[in-house]
Amino acid sequence: MKLGVVVLAAGQGTRMRSDRPKVLHELAGRPMVGWVLASLEGLPVADCVVVVGHGADQVAGAVPEGVSTALQAEQRGTGHAAQIGLAALDAACDTVLILCGDTPLVRPELVAQLVAVHTAAGRPATMVTAVLDDAGAYGRVLRSIAGDLDVVVEARDATPEQLEVGEINAGIYVADRVALAAALDGVGTDNAQGEVYLPDALPLMGGPVGIVVSDDPLVVAGVNNRVDLADCEAELQRRLRERLMLDGVTMTDPTAVFVDHDVRIGRDTVIHPGVHLRKGTSIGQECVIGPDCLISAASIGDRCTLVATHVHESAISDDCQLGPFAYLRPGNQMRPGSKVGTYVEMKNTTLGAKAKVPHLSYVGDAEIGEGTNIGAGNITANYDGFRKHRTVIGARVRTGSDCVFVAPVSVGDDAMTAAGSIITHEVPAGALGIARARQSVIDGFTAKAAARAAAAANADNKGNHA
Ligand code: UD1
Ligand code: CA
Repeated sequence: MKLGVVVLAAGQGTRMRSDRPKVLHELAGRPMVGWVLASLEGLPVADCVVVVGHGADQVAGAVPEGVSTALQAEQRGTGHAAQIGLAALDAACDTVLILCGDTPLVRPELVAQLVAVHTAAGRPATMVTAVLDDAGAYGRVLRSIAGDLDVVVEARDATPEQLEVGEINAGIYVADRVALAAALDGVGTDNAQGEVYLPDALPLMGGPVGIVVSDDPLVVAGVNNRVDLADCEAELQRRLRERLMLDGVTMTDPTAVFVDHDVRIGRDTVIHPGVHLRKGTSIGQECVIGPDCLISAASIGDRCTLVATHVHESAISDDCQLGPFAYLRPGNQMRPGSKVGTYVEMKNTTLGAKAKVPHLSYVGDAEIGEGTNIGAGNITANYDGFRKHRTVIGARVRTGSDCVFVAPVSVGDDAMTAAGSIITHEVPAGALGIARARQSVIDGFTAKAAARAAAAANADNKGNHA
């Protein structure tokens, strides 16, 4: 057997009420069609074609390498889409697996089972069905007395009695390629939508169609509107969290943790509620994350603690502390044991080992050496209105509170800066940089000022009585 795959994804998805093609709506950080393609994992797929129509270029741009697309310019039904997919499929494929782009919960186990049953039974086609309490708008599966497939009736074309049937067509099929192409040629458009229905080809395959009943009705759920989308997101979140917990991650309230499909978390890390872990994020072992963190495309080492913190596109080493209320924009590297504390915004900065920026600071385009402590309320003035400039601060430096570093500027190792300084020139290693107006003191000022004020008031009163 040489297996080809056709994914039907040309439909507009009118019920989504969206400008975006339906199959590109994201679930757990991955487009819907990406979840469908992921269900092919482990199968010996020789060629894979996604049939595109609405937003063809967008969908084509979103499919992974090695997957091609075929254009269905006019959406004349799932059968018509399958014909276009079959025509584009590598001629060597003798067996075709057909999936819908709008069923993101389909699992690799189910697809593998379908292909295995089909191969073993040698029938011309095999389909997946499920039994639902509420079969809604799905196509109803009508069986013959022998238990074989008789016909699939779309909900819109069904009689009230047929609508009572709980077994539905999941829209996942595997078939002999030549037999399916021939059967599709014989399908008409005499139905409520005037379309070529793919399931109408099944009774024309020249032999009984095999049926695999999915034991989990959820895995065949199709997304037709935003309510379905949210339901599928919830199910995928449940699966992703479950995988992480079984791998050794503690979640104190799993329903309040949100993870994208590729997030990795090490053993014995604890995730508290309100944590969102987006695409491209990895977290090491024995960390405590949350409550209330958003981490995207970042790597976090082992034994880090993050509270109420946002981190984007940054690399955090082991034993770091962040937050509460820290905001890391892209391009930071935090070396081991460093700390970014309360109300600190940092971007494009390397923070040396054990260096600290504990309070109320903005650090951008900077390099801060090992063991340095940045005082409260420090600012790197990195932008002169035209270009960005770097601030380089050495190792073991202590900056005073409320310093501004007007970049480009540097401070050498073991130096200090005085509180309230505007540092515009280099502070050499071991030196103190101080750049603020000297304080002057006026002795007895308040008493003299009060006396002057009283005299003035007295003069005013006399003036009023005259
Ligand atoms: C389809 C099945 C129905 C099944 C259900 C399972 C048909 C006629 N009906 O109904 O029996 O219960 O799936 O989810 O097949 N598409 C194209 N080109 C087209 C039309 C559709 O590529 O011309 C694609 C859509 O983008 C979608 C998939 O085919 O990904 C299914 O189409 P949709 O209109 O959603 O079919 P359903 O009404 O859900
Ligand atoms: Ca559908």
